Amino acid sequence: PDNIFSIFWDYRHYYATGVQYTLLLSALGVLFGFVIGLVVALLRLSKLNVLRWIAMTYIEILRGTPMLVQLLIIHYGIAQTFNIEFSVLQSGIITLSINSSAYLAEIFRAGIQGVDRGQTEAARSLGMSYGMTLRHIIIPQAIKSVLPAIGNEFVVIIKESSIVSFIGVADLMFQAQAVRSITYSALYPLLIAAAIYFVMTFVLSKLLGMVERRWSVSDKR
Ligand code: ARG
Repeated sequence: PDNIFSIFWDYRHYYATGVQYTLLLSALGVLFGFVIGLVVALLRLSKLNVLRWIAMTYIEILRGTPMLVQLLIIHYGIAQTFNIEFSVLQSGIITLSINSSAYLAEIFRAGIQGVDRGQTEAARSLGMSYGMTLRHIIIPQAIKSVLPAIGNEFVVIIKESSIVSFIGVADLMFQAQAVRSITYSALYPLLIAAAIYFVMTFVLSKLLGMVERRWSVSDKR
């Protein structure tokens, strides 16, 4: 195969498999990141100094070190040190979730702090406990206001998930490398991967934009 279209056609199954892994990894990464991130955000806003400090340290370390290093620590470091073997897929998902949770925690914190004080005061004056106020009044509004930012995080993770190819997860990036080594074509397999990543992130951001516009209309009633 000497042109980009015939390479794409001949190896379409490689790319199709890669896309599935990339989307699976990204979706699970953001999903678990969401749950962990919300917990970390609440710890970050806790009145207890220890909890706040733990959350801040967690966020700063994860955002201040490369995700590639985190991936290798989880996949190889943890395996050797604690004798726990994760499959490459498990390590990939764990790394993306944990890394993403640190970014999402900051997004949630901003969202929670952005909810009007009056909401808390109204809920408390109605007799709600602080926990109830948080669960039923503040967190739902905070999540709604940060959904666009969470969508962005999903787009970021689709691209950043490409580093899991480093440990051998068969994602889109990994498949591009495989096609590259089979065809001896240095450029085309990568251009195809780039085009597919672009389509995924472009379509996703357009979809998110549509959802966002629809919601902002429903808010203005
Ligand atoms: N590539 C950078 C790193 O290795 C950015 C990671 C971005 N992660 C995120 N969840 N937004 O640290």
